[in-house]
Amino acid sequence: EKGNHRHFMEKEIHEQPEVIGRTVSHYADAFENSVHEIAGLDFRSASRLIIVGCGTAAYAGEISRYWFGSLARLAVEVDIASEFRYRDPVFLPGDIALFISQSGETADTLEAMRLAAAAGVQTLALVNTPHSTIAREASLVVPTLAGPEIGVASTKAFTSQLSALACLAVLAGRHRGHLDRAQEAGHVVSLLASPGLMVKALEREGEIEALAQEIASHPTVLYLGRNQNFPLALEAALKLKEISYIHAEGYAAGELKHGPIALIEEGLPVIVIAPHDALFDKTRSSIQQVASRGAHVIAITDPEGARALEGEAASIITLPKGSQLTNPLLFASAVQLLAYHVAVYKGTDVDQPRNLAKSVTVE
Ligand code: F6R
Repeated sequence: EKGNHRHFMEKEIHEQPEVIGRTVSHYADAFENSVHEIAGLDFRSASRLIIVGCGTAAYAGEISRYWFGSLARLAVEVDIASEFRYRDPVFLPGDIALFISQSGETADTLEAMRLAAAAGVQTLALVNTPHSTIAREASLVVPTLAGPEIGVASTKAFTSQLSALACLAVLAGRHRGHLDRAQEAGHVVSLLASPGLMVKALEREGEIEALAQEIASHPTVLYLGRNQNFPLALEAALKLKEISYIHAEGYAAGELKHGPIALIEEGLPVIVIAPHDALFDKTRSSIQQVASRGAHVIAITDPEGARALEGEAASIITLPKGSQLTNPLLFASAVQLLAYHVAVYKGTDVDQPRNLAKSVTVE
């Protein structure tokens, strides 16, 4: 039931603090500030992690690539299932393959998993539906604990996937000797704090709704991000197009000069995912480049970023300060709210967008 909410999507966006708390508690120990071992999962001798999914699930995988790389020095290859399964993929000794799916029934993801299993690769399924086909056929299930997701546009399943992936990356970091006890504890403490931070992020809804009204009248919107914020920009663009039918593109901020900057014209909304992280100055220079060409820049940032961008971005949404692992969770909630409110202004069918099905069981 929707309770006080107008749509399931709105309800599911607001359930996220609880959902990510539940998922992190499943994988991590709040007394020891460590992640649990998972029987049958050993990253020590892994030579590579292959991650496959479709749509939003694939974007969660893309974000985690940055985590497995920097926390565990584990090489990650991410692909969308429909491409992976038909490109005659190369499997190497020591590969582990992870398949991400909310429904556990997505045809392409299932077939990609069958291909890996036939090649003798260990198959992990990160699924939200425990009795699904993908869960049944995988060698190991790593659950997300989002609960049933009704809105066709994925929200809480995505952040639940990110929470689980963050914990798996910490586990891989410990297994591979790249995180010491204190570093592991630091990451786990930040993940345990994420529900409280997301409550704060969701409190920005009023400001986001005001911006949504303005965006609703534009035919095109660009999203920019760098590093782990790049796949989040892709997810943000997908969310907006799915439910508001506005054309949206996500780009890596560093790619601007390689083509997309030609699109910038007076008033074009450019939404920049800009936490004050190690690459903030580079993101800031992208903001200056598009603003000087007339774009209406909406920066989603944190308090330190907001101070730096004062006068440079036309609009600023200030979220709480997160960490490498928690920023994508917080920023995801803001871009979801933005897409949601644009769609509400446009009067689209938010929970059942045209042409889309919740579960894609045929290719
Ligand atoms: C986007 C969305 C889709 C799904 C994709 C995979 O909001 O919902 O892109 O993420 O169809 O579905 P699952 O995760 O069920 O395999």
